Amino acid sequence: MKAVALTRYLPISDPQSLVDVELPTPVPGARDLLVKVEAIAVNPVDTKVRAPKEKVEASPRVLGWDAAGVVEQVGAEVTLFKRGDRVYYAGDITRPGSNSAFQLVDERIVGHAPKSLSFAEAAALPLTAITAWEALFDRLRVAAFNTASNAQRSILLIGGAGGVGSIAIQLAAKVAGLKVIATASRPESARWCKELGAEVVVNHFGNLVEEVRAAGFKHVDYVLIMNSTDTHMPAAAELVAPQGGICTIVENAKPLDVVPLKNKSAFFAWEFMFTRAMFTTPDMIEQHKLLTEVARLVDAGVIRTTVAEVLKPVNAANLRAAHAKLEAGRAIGKIVLEGF
Ligand SMILES: NC(=O)c1ccc[n+]([C@@H]2O[C@H](COP(=O)([O-])OP(=O)(O)OC[C@H]3O[C@@H](n4cnc5c(N)ncnc54)[C@H](OP(=O)(O)O)[C@@H]3O)[C@@H](O)[C@H]2O)c1
Repeated sequence: MKAVALTRYLPISDPQSLVDVELPTPVPGARDLLVKVEAIAVNPVDTKVRAPKEKVEASPRVLGWDAAGVVEQVGAEVTLFKRGDRVYYAGDITRPGSNSAFQLVDERIVGHAPKSLSFAEAAALPLTAITAWEALFDRLRVAAFNTASNAQRSILLIGGAGGVGSIAIQLAAKVAGLKVIATASRPESARWCKELGAEVVVNHFGNLVEEVRAAGFKHVDYVLIMNSTDTHMPAAAELVAPQGGICTIVENAKPLDVVPLKNKSAFFAWEFMFTRAMFTTPDMIEQHKLLTEVARLVDAGVIRTTVAEVLKPVNAANLRAAHAKLEAGRAIGKIVLEGF
């Protein structure tokens, strides 16, 4: 099968950083689907895993953790899917990724793709939707779905126009019914946040505390940090409401100070969307359920795909271009590659 892979970890400007290869088509294990991949999306995790280092792989390593495609074959114990089903999924960081014409994925972390979307539009969603959903509803424990109490609550979404922010804004505003304050630093990213449902947009390169307060919010009930945790944690701690919560999806480089949360009885939580697959947690199937629910919400017109750009076909040159764009840190929505 066709695939894009690496053996050495090189800067993305090096043509050898990602190369076109031919690999054997893998054989499904008991709960695996063998998926014919039609479209993939790129995420910062791809560039972080690919980051330059001395290590050399003995055999080509396939990256990529976002795909939409068609079930080609099922393992002996598969019950949720059958051959021919259209699916979308992020996959498992401990297994080969989606930058290949065929991929194995455990059925418990796969959803039926939204019927109203093309493969490219569907591939934009899974990794970021899982992350945003788990951050809001599992870690911050926002009550799922529009409740009267949610309408009184607010959330600050730091990094609003990025891949995760683009779906987090929609889930927070349109599904949970929270008041959403998003951050963006440019007119085009600010406009994108408003189109997706943000009530207020503030600049993450300005003074966040002053900007949020000037917008009329002394405190926010929840903060979701989706960029530069080291930079934004002090403002998040100051802005979070008594008994509120902060969640981050981005690793810190310095120790995080949670002491300012003590008098507020506020909590701090991590979200890592690979946790369930990485540890085969007993509730791993929750990702199948949430992707199914996200597909329903898309088909019902409540939320929409976050695709912003589609490159064709999936090959090393286009994937290097996509990685380079992501590494610039200015993505609005998602970059997708389609067709092998
Ligand atoms: N823990 C997990 O499970 C998980 C899952 C997914 C992603 N992540 C991590 O979350 C981060 C975001 O992912 P993503 O896919 O949303 O990335 P992305 O699409 O590359 O994010 C780009 C956005 O970041 C904004 N941004 C740039 N500098 C910023 C800053 N200093 N403060 C706040 N926002 C800033 C930009 O907004 P402007 O252009 O308006 O400045 C841009 O819209 C990455 O570090 C990624 O690895 C973690």
